[in-house]
Amino acid sequence: MSLPSHVRLVEVGPRDGLQNEKQPIGVADKVRLVDDLSAAGLGYIEVGSFVSPKWVPQMAGSAEVFAGIDRRSGVTYAALTPNLQGLEAALAAGVREVAVFAAASEAFSQRNINCSIAESLKRFEPVMDAAQRHGVRVRGYVSCVLGCPYDGAVSARQVAVVCRELQAMGCYEVSLGDTIGVGTAGAVRNLFEVVGREVPRERLAGHFHDTYGQALANIYASLLEGIAVFDASVAGLGGCPYARGATGNVASEDVVYLLQGLGIETGVNLPGLIEAGQRISRVLGRESASRVARARSARE
Ligand code: HMG
Ligand code: MG
Repeated sequence: MSLPSHVRLVEVGPRDGLQNEKQPIGVADKVRLVDDLSAAGLGYIEVGSFVSPKWVPQMAGSAEVFAGIDRRSGVTYAALTPNLQGLEAALAAGVREVAVFAAASEAFSQRNINCSIAESLKRFEPVMDAAQRHGVRVRGYVSCVLGCPYDGAVSARQVAVVCRELQAMGCYEVSLGDTIGVGTAGAVRNLFEVVGREVPRERLAGHFHDTYGQALANIYASLLEGIAVFDASVAGLGGCPYARGATGNVASEDVVYLLQGLGIETGVNLPGLIEAGQRISRVLGRESASRVARARSARE
């Protein structure tokens, strides 16, 4: 299969990245990060989550972040909403696109959102209804598609079933998350092969964490399977509070560098993106996890 000419990047750093940080990060720094990312040409930015502050304290200020950002036309600013309460809070904050998140493994579903997979899908129904009434688009996530920190192996068939359900209830796209970053290229190709029988590939996205250093190889494997939407996190920020030891998503800078080398358009300005990553890394008091950013700063 030939590679796509254009890839859409979903920047999840302000949400998937920062949700895992223990130190308090001020609203102004979060707003600055989102604005730096939109200035660098990212067309889709996940700004925060409307989840229980007891479960994920770092996302508690998401409404303030939404109120503070400079909304550029043509950019989608999205939020995670696990239930109707979250959706209502998101709507009140002026959010126009949300994501619901399920898991491919029962144990992760329990730890992450305190219910079974079937219960989570049921819980999303009123979210989908209300979102539709308000003209808000809903993206779906499935976590642990290539392995679960509690249950171990996860079958591609099981992932396909959850993806099909999310699509059937109205998610315009489903992002497949290798939450603990254990997947390898062959497993990724098999996954899209199996899931692609239930959901058209143009409605699927890849969400790779880099825990085992496989994320870029997994993105390339996905491209070969016809996938053209990828989630990534500036400076490789993050992890998941319910997947101990999981590192951040693949760094957005490294994905852009890979795609540029393949002649694939993203609309992202790499130096601007690197600068956004360096700024938030200074706020966090550590070096960026992006290899491209590190190599560029070593050269300067
Ligand atoms: P629960 O305790 O079962 O919920 O949590 P509940 O309905 O029984 O409510 C308990 C309390 O939470 C109540 O407050 C509610 O008001 C409050 P209390 O009366 O005790 O003071 N509450 C809320 N507060 C704010 N916003 C809400 C909300 N809902 C209830 N929306 C719940 C269930 C889903 C709420 C909880 O488990 C939760 O918030 N989980 C979020 C976990 C999370 O955000 N995880 C990280 C994101 S997923 C991820 O990172 C993976 C991904 O990146 C893909 C990948 O990498 O694979 C997407
Ligand atoms: Mg994630």
